Amino acid sequence: MWKTFLIAALGLGLAACQPSKRYQSFTPGELWLDDNDVHINAHGGGILFEKGRYYWFGEHKTAGEGGNKANVGVHCYSSDDLYNWKDEGIALHVEPEGSGSPIEKGCILERPKVIHNPKTGKYVMWFHLEPKGQGYGGAQSGVAVSDKVAGPYTFLRAGRINPGKWACNVPDSLKEAPVFATEDAYSGGSLPASLDSLNIQKRDFEGGQMARDMNLFVDDDGKAYHIYASEENSTLQIAQLTEDYTGHNGVYARCFEGRFMEAPAMFKRNGKYYLIMSGCTGWAPNAARSAVADSIFGPWKELGNPCIDADSALTYHSQSTFVLPVQGKEDTYIYMGDRWTPENAIDGRYVWLPVRFEGERVVIPWESEWKLEGKGE
Ligand code: DGJ
Repeated sequence: MWKTFLIAALGLGLAACQPSKRYQSFTPGELWLDDNDVHINAHGGGILFEKGRYYWFGEHKTAGEGGNKANVGVHCYSSDDLYNWKDEGIALHVEPEGSGSPIEKGCILERPKVIHNPKTGKYVMWFHLEPKGQGYGGAQSGVAVSDKVAGPYTFLRAGRINPGKWACNVPDSLKEAPVFATEDAYSGGSLPASLDSLNIQKRDFEGGQMARDMNLFVDDDGKAYHIYASEENSTLQIAQLTEDYTGHNGVYARCFEGRFMEAPAMFKRNGKYYLIMSGCTGWAPNAARSAVADSIFGPWKELGNPCIDADSALTYHSQSTFVLPVQGKEDTYIYMGDRWTPENAIDGRYVWLPVRFEGERVVIPWESEWKLEGKGE
């Protein structure tokens, strides 16, 4: 009797200590408050599932137009249900102004993603980096590591990708062709009006390939890949990382040549690789794209716009950033997108939607409010 009472009292006590669960559903595009009642600040983000918790990393934006620059760093949140998020603080801090660091305050640091390396035990963060004051011309990739998932992360280096290496699927014709196809294109020393006349793969051979919008993907065999908009955004490249995930091993492929894909998000289902991407229209939304392949290096087959409801041509006013396989739920994936507000960067919203499949085709329906369902709930 006393024992039962004690157990019941302890149970009540524990329940009272549980942090309140504010959310029981997703409401795409609405304000999304963390455990401090502050709108989540993790834009262009991605999620790592680690030891039973989800960790969401993204760009910490600040108020106003200047808030699109990296004034603070990469923010991390954690959750056990994907609806309610605990603020874990800044995982990677930018360096002070005037420090001369590649990640100096005021640089552009976008689309950070984190993966865990089981061999080294390290958490490895990659991100798109544009050194301060150089616009988007740098097209570099930065890498940072930590022993703890939520950080702090230590910046290692930044640069272009795979200098002196040809893509595994580059045709000999590109290796032999001149960088500029016409004499005209040389005039002024700047980019020609049409990139068709420019052999960017060759132009960047020595210095390394450009990388802007990016993502990471770890395959079932533990090999990790960096997926990024390259060649002046015209062509997506997929590059294998070294065993410790902190570098590139020289093996990479060019995909969707001349298709100007941004915002790549990769996932794997039933042995096939999928990509959700966007077109290239700055902060303004455009129609999403999807593609499937049997091998990560392609050939990739485009499947068209996965969105099907009103405003599908604008991806429901969002741009892809990640596709999350939900743990413990069979065949359940979440499309994570950003609804950018460039005039007041900090107010950017998150558009998370269910991913469905019709045969091989990927379908993303609009839901103004939805919950995770399905086996394993
Ligand atoms: C679109 C990209 O997807 C964003 O990450 C950002 O780089 C903006 N362009 C900048 O205009």
